Amino acid sequence: MATIHVDGNDYEVEDSDNLLHACLSLGLDIPYFCWHPAMGSVGACRQCAVKQYKDADDTRGMLVMSCMAPVKDDAYISIDDDEAKAFRETVIEWLMVNHPHDCPVCEEGGHCHLQDMTVMTGHDRRRYRFKKRTHRNQYLGPFVAHEMNRCITCYRCVRFYQDYAGGEDLGAFGAHDNVYFGRYEEGTLESEFSGNLTEVCPTGVFTDQTHSDHYTRKWDLQFAPSICHQCASGCNISPGERYGDIRRIENRYNGDVNRYFLCDRGRFGYGYVNRKDRPTRPELFQRSQRGDAAQGVTLMEIDEALDRAADALRGAKRLIGIGSPRASLESNHRLRELVGAECFSTGIEAGELERLQRMQALNRDSGVATPSLREIEACDAVLVLGEDLLQSAARLALSVRQAVRGKGVELGAERGIPEWNAEAVKTIAQDAAHPLFLATPEATKLDAIATRTRRAAPDDIARLGFAVAHALDPTAPAVEGLDDATQALVGEIADALLAAERPLVIAGEALASLAVIEAAGNVARALARRQKAGAGLTLVRREANSVGLGLLGGESLDWALAQLEQGDADGVVILENDLYARLPAARIDAALSRASALVVIDHQRTATWEQADIGLPAGTFAESDGTLVSLEGRAQRFYQVFDPSYLRPDTRIRESWRWLHALQATLERQPMTTVLFDDLTEAVAGAAAVFAPLHHAMPEAQFRIHGLKLAREPHRYSGRTAMRANLDVNEPRAPVDLDTPFAFSMEGYAGYREPRREVPFAWAPGWNSPQAWNKFQDEIGGHLRAGDPGIRLFRDADATVEASYCDAIPEAFAVRDGEWQMIALPQLFGGDETSRRAEPIQARMAPPAVTLNDADAEALGIAADDPVAVSFGDTRITLPARLGRDLPRGLVALPQGTLAPLVGALPATLGWGRVALDTAAADGGAQA
Ligand code: SF4
Ligand code: SF4
Ligand code: FES
Repeated sequence: MATIHVDGNDYEVEDSDNLLHACLSLGLDIPYFCWHPAMGSVGACRQCAVKQYKDADDTRGMLVMSCMAPVKDDAYISIDDDEAKAFRETVIEWLMVNHPHDCPVCEEGGHCHLQDMTVMTGHDRRRYRFKKRTHRNQYLGPFVAHEMNRCITCYRCVRFYQDYAGGEDLGAFGAHDNVYFGRYEEGTLESEFSGNLTEVCPTGVFTDQTHSDHYTRKWDLQFAPSICHQCASGCNISPGERYGDIRRIENRYNGDVNRYFLCDRGRFGYGYVNRKDRPTRPELFQRSQRGDAAQGVTLMEIDEALDRAADALRGAKRLIGIGSPRASLESNHRLRELVGAECFSTGIEAGELERLQRMQALNRDSGVATPSLREIEACDAVLVLGEDLLQSAARLALSVRQAVRGKGVELGAERGIPEWNAEAVKTIAQDAAHPLFLATPEATKLDAIATRTRRAAPDDIARLGFAVAHALDPTAPAVEGLDDATQALVGEIADALLAAERPLVIAGEALASLAVIEAAGNVARALARRQKAGAGLTLVRREANSVGLGLLGGESLDWALAQLEQGDADGVVILENDLYARLPAARIDAALSRASALVVIDHQRTATWEQADIGLPAGTFAESDGTLVSLEGRAQRFYQVFDPSYLRPDTRIRESWRWLHALQATLERQPMTTVLFDDLTEAVAGAAAVFAPLHHAMPEAQFRIHGLKLAREPHRYSGRTAMRANLDVNEPRAPVDLDTPFAFSMEGYAGYREPRREVPFAWAPGWNSPQAWNKFQDEIGGHLRAGDPGIRLFRDADATVEASYCDAIPEAFAVRDGEWQMIALPQLFGGDETSRRAEPIQARMAPPAVTLNDADAEALGIAADDPVAVSFGDTRITLPARLGRDLPRGLVALPQGTLAPLVGALPATLGWGRVALDTAAADGGAQA
C-alpha cells in the first residue's frame, strides 16, 4: 500500500496501480478516454492530466498523465489545479474539433462517455469555425452500426478488437489527424465479440444496430439485473425494455464472471422475446388424433385453460413431467413437485444426461477446483480437449485468450513493468504466450494463439488426454499404440502443465463424448496428485441451466418417452422444451401419440407446442424471475424486466412456475393461493443440500434501501403517464412486484452509494455510460462493493475423495470403408434453441453444410458445394459439401442446432453415429 496526497487529502491506495486507477477507485473524478480498466493504459488521449508535485514544498509541480503515472508512496498530486484543469479543457476541445456535435441524433446520446467527460471537463463553447474532417461510414453487418465522424481517436476499439479479443478485420488506417477505424473494406465484423465495441468506444462511432431498429434513449428504458440464457457461461446482462419489447442488452458487471464483456450471441440474440408469433394466450388445440395438424385453435382465459388442463390431466392414469435445461431451477422444481420426483424427467437425452452427471461428479471429486471466468484469465497453461470454445462458450474463450496473453504481463513484471502499462507489456511480450494446447476435430479461431493444435476424431482426442494424465502421473492408466508424434506432443503438454502454477484443463459436451470428459477428469486428477494446488478443471455444458437441472436430478428424456410408449404414463406436462430439438422426430411422434393429455408451457411456438392439447404461454427471461446455475457452479438470479400485461392487457403470459403452481391447485381442487418467488426459492433450497446456499444468493423481496424498493427505471424515465393512453386515458397504478425488491417504476432507490449486488443499470451522477460501473466497484475493475451477484454451489473439488482414475480408454479411431463417423459441431450463431429465432442472429448463421475431409471428398468425386446426401437411420439430409483439410479422414461434420428446424435432432446427440454418404442430388430427403 502507499499513501498519496490528493488536493490536500491523504489516501491509502494500492502501490501497484497507476494514479488514474487509484483516484477513480477512491471515488475521485478524473476524465479519461483511452484508458480502460480491462485494457490498461497507453497514454494516447492526454485527457487524464493531473498536476504532480515533487514533495509537500513543491508549489510548481508538473503535468502528468495520471493513467501513465505509477502510484508512489508520499506522492502529492492535484486534480483541481488550474493548469491541469485548463489543460484537460484544451484537450477535449481539440478532440472535439472534428466531432459533428450531433448528440440529438446520435444513438450514444444519454449513455455517452464523451458527453460525460465533456461536461466534467467544462468544455461548453465551440470556437472552431472551419470545415471539419469527414469520413465515409461502413456497413459492418447486422450487429454494429458505424458513424466514423464521431471518432476522437482514442484507439480503444482496435485495442479491444485486436489485442484483447484477437480480431483481425478491424484496424486503424491513415495517419496524423486523419485516422480511420474500420474494416479495410465494408463487410460484417468477424469477431464473436464485436458488440463490445458499442461499450468500449467512448462515443457514438460504434452503436448497437439491433437497438437502432427500435431505438430508445437509455433513460427511457426499464431494466432488471438478468442472466444471459444463451449458453452455460452465466454472463450477467442488463436488458432494457420499452413498450413491451426488449430494445437492447448491455453488459452487467460481475467481477467474478464476465466483467466488462459479452459475446455477440448473448448481446444480440434477444429477438425471440419480441417475436410477434409468440403465444400470448392459452391455446386449446382441436385435432382428431395426435400427430394430425390442429384443425382449430381456441384462445382461452386463464381459469378456463387451467380447468381444461386439469380435466385432461385428471383423465390420465399416470402423469409425468418433462423439464428443461433452458428453464429456471424454480420452474423445474415446481414441475417436479407437480408430478412427483419419480415422474420427473429432466428433458435431456440419456447420453447427454449421463455426461452431465459425470461432469458433476468430476467437479466434486476430481481433486481440483472449478475456476471462475476471471480466475481463468490468470491461468498459465491451458489444455482444451474437444471444445471449440468460441462456438460453445464464447465468453470462456475470451478468458482463455487473456490467460495466454498473461505471459506478457509476467515478462513485464520481471522487468518492473506494471500490468496496466499495456503498450509496454505488449512490446515486451511480442509473440510470447502462456502455453495453450487445443485438440479438436476441426480448425478453430483460437488456433492462432495455440502453442500446438491436434486435429483428431473424438476417441483420439480422448486418448491424447488419457496419455497426458499418464505422463503426469504414471499410476494413471497408460494408452497403448500412440505414434511417436503423439507421444512427443503428450510429453510437451505434460511438461507445460507441470511447469505451470495454475494449469487449466477444459473439456465438455461439444463432441458428445464421455471418453473426452473422462480423459479431462484423469488429467485433473493427475494434476491434483502432483500437488498442483492452483490447477483447475472447467467442464462446458450446453445450455444455460444444464448444471442446475443436473443438480436437481431427474430421469432422461428417453425414459419419459419410454413411459409413454409402454403405456406406463399417458398424461404429460412439458416445460419450455422442444423435444424435437433433442431426439429424432419419429421417436418423439411415436411417444407423444400415446399421450391422452399433453400440456405444453413455453414462450415459443415450437414443434412440441404444435403437438399440445393445451398450450400455456410462459414468460421469457425478460418476463420472469428465476435462478440458473452456470458452468462454474454459480447460482445466479435473473429478475423480471417488465410486466407484459401492463401495456398489453390482452396477454395472459405468466412465469412457468406460476402456471405450474396454479395447475397443481386446480388439479387438487385446492383454493388458489398466491405463490411468492421467495417461497419457491426456499423450497428449492430445501430440495437438496447442494441448493442450501441459495438463501444467500439474492436479496429477498423485502430488501429495501432507505426504506425504498429499487427502481427499474432511471429517474429521468419519461412518458410513463402516456404509455397506455391509446388504451385508457386514466393511467393505472404501475404493476406491483411482490416477488423482488424492484419496482416497475422510476420510484425507488437508483443510486450507487449504498452497496447492492443486483444493479439493473449502471448510472451515477455525471456518469451515464457503462463507465458508471466504476462507481459500484470496491476498486476499479475489482468486485461490486456489496459482493458480486450469485453464489457458488461448487468450486473446490472435495479433497477427501480419493476417486480412482478412469480406465475406459477407447480404441484408436479407424477409418472404415463406406462409413463415416458423424459429429455435430457447436455453432455460436444458431446453435441454441432460442437465439436462433432472432433475426440478427439468423443473418449471421452460416448456411448448413456437410464438412468432410478433402481426400474423402476426392475419393467420392465430391467438389465444394456439390450436394451430398447423409443417411442415418430413416433420415436422409442433402446439403452442400464443405471441404475441410483439417477434419480427419473418416469424419463428417454437421452444424449443431442450425439443422434442427429442418431435420430435428442429429444422431450425434445420441452418441456416435456412423453414417453413409453419397453424391445423390436432392432426392426427397430433407434439404437445406
Ligand atoms: S472509433 Fe471510438 S473507440 Fe475507436 S478510436 Fe474512435 S472514439 Fe476511440
Ligand atoms: S458467452 Fe454465453 S452467457 Fe455469455 S453472453 Fe455469450 S451466450 Fe451469453
Ligand atoms: S486516459 Fe490517460 S492519456 Fe488517455
